[in-house]
Amino acid sequence: MSTIATRDGTEIFYKDWGSGRPVVFSHGWPLNADAWDDQMFFLASHGFRCIAFDRRGFGRSSQSWDGNNYDTFAEFAFGEADGGDSSPIFGVKIPTGYRQWQLAAVSQEEGLGELRGIPGNVPSMKAYRDGTLPFPDGATLAKLAWKRVPSSEFNGAFVPGAPTTLQIMVKDSKKYASTGGWGFGRFVDGKPVDEAQHKTCFPCHQANAKGHDFVFTRLAP
Ligand code: HEC
Repeated sequence: MSTIATRDGTEIFYKDWGSGRPVVFSHGWPLNADAWDDQMFFLASHGFRCIAFDRRGFGRSSQSWDGNNYDTFAEFAFGEADGGDSSPIFGVKIPTGYRQWQLAAVSQEEGLGELRGIPGNVPSMKAYRDGTLPFPDGATLAKLAWKRVPSSEFNGAFVPGAPTTLQIMVKDSKKYASTGGWGFGRFVDGKPVDEAQHKTCFPCHQANAKGHDFVFTRLAP
């Protein structure tokens, strides 16, 4: 069963069918995500990615005591949970729930003394496992970076220290046609960095990772 945790830890059940441009289905009282099965089946069979979830307190989601109101429903459904501004040029926001994504790989950059983790959302991880290139619309990858610091408990081991940057790549082949289908966002302390830095993203990815849909990271063996 697929679930995602909201900001207050409430587990939300969801189904995620098909691939393509995403369509989100939000049910009313007193139903659950199954209310949309017919519509989802139809759209998923016609090239859309369909996502429906059981609202908190309904169906297979947690029976939360607090937050059973429209502000909390909307915050979850429309990605405002992480709030924040969108990146210049691309309008990319920090995706809700990225800390729950599966890890594609880790990396390290010697010059900056950083450790990185590169997780991906459900469509991107599926594409990785199936070897699908280019990545489908809706695929989203994150790169989390931390200072590499020596473990205080074990000599010779290194652990993540203070976070440095969070970077996001979102695939939307129409919206971002001029940058290989990818929108970019770079965030420090949850805030997007300036436009000049966002101008550097695609050129470097294009120059070095063109043969892999502009994505450097390969699934860790
Ligand atoms: C000078 C080259 C360079 C620039 C500029 C650059 N990147 Fe990357 N990017 C990389 C490399 C190399 C990786 C591979 C993983 C690593 O660095 O640890 C990567 C990985 C990523 C990943 C993980 C998916 C992948 O392709 O492996 C994301 C997301 C990402 N970068 C976003 C950005 C964003 C957003 C910007 C602009 C603000 C940006 N990058 C600018 C070189 C670059």
